[in-house]
Amino acid sequence: MCGIVGYIGHREAYPIILKGLKRLEYRGYDSAGIALYDGDDIVLCKTKGKVADLEHKIESEISTKGNLGIGHTRWATHGVPNDVNSHPHYSNSGNLVIIHNGIIENYDSLRKELIKRGYTFKSETDTEVLVNLIEDVQKNDNLKLGKAVQIALNQVVGAYAIAVFDKNKPNEIVVAKLGSPLAIGVGDDEYFIASDASPFIEYTKSAIYLEDEEMAVIRRHKGVKIRKIKDDTLVDPYIQELQLNLEQIEKGGYDHFMLKEIHEQPSAIFDTFRGRLLSDKGIIKMSGVEDNMKRFLNADRIIIVACGTSWHAGLVAEYIFEDLARIPVEVEYASEFRYRNPVIYEKDVVIAISQSGETADTLAAIKLAKSKGAFVFGVCNVVGSTIARETDAGAYTHAGPEIGVASTKAFTTQITVLTLIALRLARAKGTISSSDYRLQLLELELIPDKVKKALESDDLVKSIAAIYKDAPNMLYLGRGFNFPVALEGALKLKEISYIHAEGYPAAEMKHGPIALIDENMPIIVIATKKGHYEKVVSNIQEIKSRKGKIIGIVTEGDEQVRALADHVIEVPESLESLSPLLTTIPLQLLSYHIALMLGRNVDQPRNLAKAVTVE
Ligand code: F6R
Repeated sequence: MCGIVGYIGHREAYPIILKGLKRLEYRGYDSAGIALYDGDDIVLCKTKGKVADLEHKIESEISTKGNLGIGHTRWATHGVPNDVNSHPHYSNSGNLVIIHNGIIENYDSLRKELIKRGYTFKSETDTEVLVNLIEDVQKNDNLKLGKAVQIALNQVVGAYAIAVFDKNKPNEIVVAKLGSPLAIGVGDDEYFIASDASPFIEYTKSAIYLEDEEMAVIRRHKGVKIRKIKDDTLVDPYIQELQLNLEQIEKGGYDHFMLKEIHEQPSAIFDTFRGRLLSDKGIIKMSGVEDNMKRFLNADRIIIVACGTSWHAGLVAEYIFEDLARIPVEVEYASEFRYRNPVIYEKDVVIAISQSGETADTLAAIKLAKSKGAFVFGVCNVVGSTIARETDAGAYTHAGPEIGVASTKAFTTQITVLTLIALRLARAKGTISSSDYRLQLLELELIPDKVKKALESDDLVKSIAAIYKDAPNMLYLGRGFNFPVALEGALKLKEISYIHAEGYPAAEMKHGPIALIDENMPIIVIATKKGHYEKVVSNIQEIKSRKGKIIGIVTEGDEQVRALADHVIEVPESLESLSPLLTTIPLQLLSYHIALMLGRNVDQPRNLAKAVTVE
């Protein structure tokens, strides 16, 4: 987690870094800081709090002049969020200054060694250890900064994206990457550094993405020199042309990124199947699947690894793959899978799902699966992300940048991609009839319009949110394809409103959670027409007789649940396998409105970060 930004060139660095930090704040927002070279010395300002707090502090504390600088927005790992632990960090001499995204796992032993050599530490961070290690190496052998960084990093265990400069060499910044993302924007006699390309998109579309275990020395008039950290080999910089544009990373008239992203779902889902679903020809075309069809068809099972919301999309996929393609599926939390010595066969297909493409646990699960010979297929949103590069093949979700910390359009587009894959495999295996297959394609094509319709429930959802916003707990129930939607609904509410919520399979309720039900407990029940409807109606009756407050998510025109529930929210009718794409919409809106009414920071909920690059 954490976001890093840097600039060296002919412009004033401060406004570029400040705006860049605001764009990267989704990556962590418990403290922030900036260091600039003012032509004479390093000036540094940092604070606990948000980038806006930093901006206020800077105005009264330091000069913002200079064409070289680095900035950081933090999600704390080592050391509580406070001013001292915030980045950037100086080395003991005050010559070097560093920003870091990641974790140095062996920082404690390195710190003890440095203390023996006379170094002192102001903060509790692993990053201050790293900058002093670099200084120590540099001093002892009188080395250039780049060489010192390289030698120091070879002693480090952990993950990092770093940027460091030396006030005695203000024409260069040294950066390095292992496990955390780092992009270099290449302009005309100027260079930008950032965790993703959003901080520099208005200045340049040319970017270099460093690979793991690479470092770069960026010199203002001499360009970028990239090397492998381990063996010192030079690497030719590969400059990519970015597709990203400014509108995609701005709020576009919405109050929050989350709301914008909820409303983007019709077009995001359309973009996800555009060019892949050719319903007139009755085919699905996905090169990642076609090129590896043998591996898919030869697999006795599929293992899905993911975290959080992506794991919920994986659970929906389990129902879809098993139902349509008759392939056994196991869905694993990547964090558990990677550490429990799982049985993995060479014939296994592992599907890794990740919006950011940077989640540390998912990445580790992928590496483990690959080491056992399994074929690993990635479903990522961020193009060129580590997971997208690390997997054997994959399919992007094409949802566009998701900036709100609570995942919304990533979830529905992940389900869309996974549905396409399941349908394609079902067709290849002959487990679906041609009429059902055609029906699935036609219905999938209708989903963007149906999502638009589902979004029309916004006012109704808002009025329901006003009634239940002060509830201390909520229960979400669903069955079949909509059981994972119940889990996702509860997660959305928890993470942005801080209300405790549980998702449960509706039928499991009587094995425990039913004890929680009284007249104060709101229970959201997904009860669409085709999904074990009668069974869910029985569950609703059980809740009603215990006086729970029922909010039903139902199919348009429903009468039965309406007669029992305190409120109903209708979604358009669809195939049951596609219904999660619709039922999830009111649940996203409900958590959004409740969080807003409670005065929460919807886009940046406490303690969270968008890309979890630490385990
Ligand atoms: C919840 C949320 C998280 C992520 C999880 C995995 O709204 O955003 O639970 O889904 O951290 O992230 P990715 O998909 O980037 O691997």
